[in-house]
Amino acid sequence: MSAVRGEFSSRFGFIMAAAGSAVGLGNIWGFPTQTASNGGAAFLVAYLILAFFLAYPALMAELIIGRHGQANAVSSLTKITSHTWQKRFAFIVGFGGILCAGFILSFYAIVAGWMLSATVEPITTLAGANGASTWLSEQSLSRNILFTVTFIILTVAIISRGVENGIEKWSKRLMPALLGILFALIAYVMTQEGAMQGLKAYLVPDFSSIFDANLLVSALGQAFFSLSLGTSVMIIYGSYISQKENLVTLGAYVTLIDVFIAFVAGLLIIPAMYVAQAQGVEIFSSTGTLLSEDTLVFQVLPALFDGMGSVGLFIGFAFFALMSIAALTSSISMLEAPVSYTVERFAMSRLQATWLIGALISAVSITIVCNLGSLFGLVITLTTKVAQPLLGLMCCIFVGWIWYRGSLLKAIQQGNPEVHNTLFWKIWPVYTKFVCPIAIGAVFLHSVLS
Ligand code: PFF
Repeated sequence: MSAVRGEFSSRFGFIMAAAGSAVGLGNIWGFPTQTASNGGAAFLVAYLILAFFLAYPALMAELIIGRHGQANAVSSLTKITSHTWQKRFAFIVGFGGILCAGFILSFYAIVAGWMLSATVEPITTLAGANGASTWLSEQSLSRNILFTVTFIILTVAIISRGVENGIEKWSKRLMPALLGILFALIAYVMTQEGAMQGLKAYLVPDFSSIFDANLLVSALGQAFFSLSLGTSVMIIYGSYISQKENLVTLGAYVTLIDVFIAFVAGLLIIPAMYVAQAQGVEIFSSTGTLLSEDTLVFQVLPALFDGMGSVGLFIGFAFFALMSIAALTSSISMLEAPVSYTVERFAMSRLQATWLIGALISAVSITIVCNLGSLFGLVITLTTKVAQPLLGLMCCIFVGWIWYRGSLLKAIQQGNPEVHNTLFWKIWPVYTKFVCPIAIGAVFLHSVLS
């Protein structure tokens, strides 16, 4: 089987692909809005601590399971088990992760579809196609279905080309484009009135709220979503990494890039909120909390762009293109999880498997689009608040409790023969055995019970 399996052709390719999965709407929309509604800089500090001390060890658990298994999530998890009950458990966790990735894609594609239509809208305005422009800027069933399905087709087109020519090639193109647009937009927003006030709210922490349980729950949930944990995505990306690579540093790069882009997106969005406020758009309540997280992207920012005249058209286009690109590098990883399983389990061709699963996910997405009021929130809660933390926790249990320590060390020594002498090896096994499961479990219980 290994001869026909894809592999990332370079370290840079893997980093761009895995960072591409991690960096998405969660960073550019989720993180800044969560920060703005959870006390600004205090949330940022909590997020940084949780990302490095809990999410990074959990990411390493998933990457090492995949790199060792060199196969889809179910087979990779099964490979480290020895008893029948463990094999059943491996199936539940692996298959659960694949389902979770598929369901996340089904709602993510809807939001990404909104971003795509908002990217096209300034072009139609510029072309003077007023009818099209009005249709694109209003929520309607036909518009939502068209753009959701278009986004899924774009994802399918990339994934059907495989690991090196699809995932890697496109991540290497799209990620630098994303960075370029992000920095250009920040440079622009910083020149506007009100931006400095936003910067202050973002960067000067009020430490009194940092140990607030709700803040910690939100920060950990955000870190898990952002690093694509508990979805089997990082297991499958890990399985495409060569045995020659040093996983400890690769995982660290991915975490650093993810946290860095979330931080930088905050430098754009939070000052932009204050700029919009200085222009008379209502953003914060009298107590300083964000009035609505959803309206930020679709009302606050468009109002800001509209107020800028023709420059605003261009900035609006750049902003939504940035969102769409970020969403695409994440959605390809979500689709790869079920596709790799189907290809390997049912010996199906990649092309067939990709279109088949793309069609299934489109059907789920359309069902959600038709029931936005009831299904949309439910699917988000079940996948991101329940399944992701639980499955991420299970992966830590696999590494900490099921995998024999000697075999685990051998697996991580590939490409890093001296790892047993490092601080990482002194801390990480204990972390994945005790600290991660207890901390993730506690945060999960708090969020479910409250
Ligand atoms: N990490 C992505 C983001 O921050 O937008 C979202 C995501 C990607 C979640 C892949 C889950 C996943 F499997």
